[in-house]
Amino acid sequence: MAGPQAEAVIDLDAYRQNLHNLAACAPDAQLMAVVKANAYGHGMAACARAAREAGADWLGVATIAEARALREAGDTGDVLCWLGSPGADFAGAIDHGIQVTASGVAQLDEIVAASSAKAKVQLKVDTGLSRNGAYGQEWPRLPDAAVAAQAAGKIAVTGVWSHLACADEPDSPANEMQERAFRDAVSAMEAAGLEPGLRHLANSAATLTRHSSHFDLVRVGIASYGINPDPALRYKTELTPVMTLRGRLAAVKRVAAGSGVSYGHTYFTERETTLGLVPMGYGDGIARTASDKAQVAVAGRRVPVAGIICMDQFVIDFGDAEAKAGDVATLFGPGADGEPSAADWAESAGTIGYEIVTRLGGRIERTYRGVR
Ligand SMILES: Cc1ncc(COP(=O)(O)O)c(C=O)c1O
Repeated sequence: MAGPQAEAVIDLDAYRQNLHNLAACAPDAQLMAVVKANAYGHGMAACARAAREAGADWLGVATIAEARALREAGDTGDVLCWLGSPGADFAGAIDHGIQVTASGVAQLDEIVAASSAKAKVQLKVDTGLSRNGAYGQEWPRLPDAAVAAQAAGKIAVTGVWSHLACADEPDSPANEMQERAFRDAVSAMEAAGLEPGLRHLANSAATLTRHSSHFDLVRVGIASYGINPDPALRYKTELTPVMTLRGRLAAVKRVAAGSGVSYGHTYFTERETTLGLVPMGYGDGIARTASDKAQVAVAGRRVPVAGIICMDQFVIDFGDAEAKAGDVATLFGPGADGEPSAADWAESAGTIGYEIVTRLGGRIERTYRGVR
């Protein structure tokens, strides 16, 4: 058997080890493994299981549907979700023991109305990202409303949290400003008579570089998958890329000098050359903006992308090197076989490593190493 045509190999041993290494960065805090968006493309159920094996205290997801999928996959531990529009299925979340986030008074009211069992709720404060969370004068109102709902026996407040805007730039004054705003928000909560429970602020970059932001729990996503949150970020922790993306060449052919390659003929062969066809394209989440820029590795050598990346396929130019249909082209991985990294692809595509792995679609088969 030759194996899948297009495959993302997920190394769960590397994932568990990354989580151990990240936990060691924040020894006094609990660890939340963020597995939203299909575990950043790595496969949520398998990564969730491996995260628990590695000792993750919490799993974090954006939506209630993702949290419910974790329950359906058999996870029974602490799960927090944080992104719900009005009308979200809070009742379903609460019935399944999923902890929900209230980002404002109206949302807390919805949670209270949906709460037959006592809902476990964490309060989110906007400390400067200007995304979700209670902002400005809504913050004192949210803890006040939570005090009342808790006294009425409808909810139990289990935590307070916020999210950083510039954690991948450790020298940005925004970090200090947000941390101070967070501390003030926690104090206001206490002054309202509410025990804050778990206080958390740090994502991967802050976990790696900013001890003062760790509080009671750190929420790690991208670094757990072995990708630096920002190529310029420096840290001492060892992280191994978890995903290797590869495909088997669908075709190899010799073409004449001056041949135009792929749509729009953005690439012409300079001399007679050997072209290979990689069976993945933007329909699979391969970034089209990496056309004519990225490289893959075949048998340990780098081969450039030639021409525009199409919906299902793209072409690579071997020159005079030997190649045949069925050969494995590795787009990115930990580098063991000379392949580029997801960060390299991100640079070629003008995006971030997060997007390179997370956008990979359903036609790419995930296969797992290190399953226990
Ligand atoms: C609320 C929240 N916390 C934590 C994370 C994890 O961030 P990172 O992947 O940078 O570690 C995310 C992801 O964007 C998030 O939305």
